[in-house]
Amino acid sequence: MPKILLTRQYPALAKDLLVDAGFEVIIWPEPRPMTPEELVENSKKADAILCTITDKITPEFLQQCSHLKVLAQFGVGYDNINVPEATKYGVAVGNTPGVLTDATADTAFALLLAVSRKALHHHKKILAGQWKSFEPNKSLGIELKGKTLGILGLGRIGTEMARRCKGAYAMNILYHNRSKNAAAEKELGARLVSFDELLKESDIVSAHCALTAETKGIFNNEAFAKMKQTAIFINTARGPVHNEEDLHDALVSKKIWGAGLDVTNPEPMSSDNPLLSMENVAIFPHIGSATEEARNGMARLAAENIIGFFKDGIVPNIVNPDYKR
Ligand code: 8YV
Repeated sequence: MPKILLTRQYPALAKDLLVDAGFEVIIWPEPRPMTPEELVENSKKADAILCTITDKITPEFLQQCSHLKVLAQFGVGYDNINVPEATKYGVAVGNTPGVLTDATADTAFALLLAVSRKALHHHKKILAGQWKSFEPNKSLGIELKGKTLGILGLGRIGTEMARRCKGAYAMNILYHNRSKNAAAEKELGARLVSFDELLKESDIVSAHCALTAETKGIFNNEAFAKMKQTAIFINTARGPVHNEEDLHDALVSKKIWGAGLDVTNPEPMSSDNPLLSMENVAIFPHIGSATEEARNGMARLAAENIIGFFKDGIVPNIVNPDYKR
């Protein structure tokens, strides 16, 4: 009977599905992620692991745990896993696409509204006892109707963000991708542009790309300098996609108007980070997929990736189809 290590306390559905399918399940009981040493030690006792963003699946880990058959990532992004190295050792890697698309797009949309109306700043003011009287001309926001949304990475989540912005505010949609998204062009009138054009033309620039060597730090000084001074930057993808110091400089020097982040670098963000006290900034603690529906969906897909492998030799959401040695 294969043994499956659950590296965190995932929604109970993951364990239930695995137990029902006849697997032995080992659950890491602590509320914190394992240290790299603990991860190796516990993975040695397992045939597959259900892991997540906080588990660093490095070449060193894989060298010591090359016996693993499956790495089932709880999440759609898998930049914590060195996939080429897993493939080298014949370890299948699966992820959980689709089920968190709406939740993550809602997070991006919520950040956009929160930034545009300085919502978190106002909330903090009340908490600090600073709601004194009606203020005719203070802390004013900006409106979103008819603006231009620029999406970096128009995939599932980017498309849902574009649908929300188009539906609510009749926004024009620009996007920058490696390849053309014909369906989104047809449905939303989205236009494929260069990265430079995206920066220059957009009132809102929203990152929905995977973290890769190409996208790491792509939003830097140079990029922010090309954006409109009235622009809002949203990142619900991965923290390292933007350079945090450059973003702070861009906001302080008013190269851009505001920013909304669900992802930071590092995570968790330190509570004294200067971005947290800026009026036109909204920051969430990486809650993109934090809904009952999305997390249960992720638990189900991750468990199904493991069950599929051991029962039928098929990982339904495989990331490295060429894993077989
Ligand atoms: C996850 C995410 O909850 O799925 C992803 O890629 O960013 C989040 O929604 C988190 O990364 C845990 O895997």
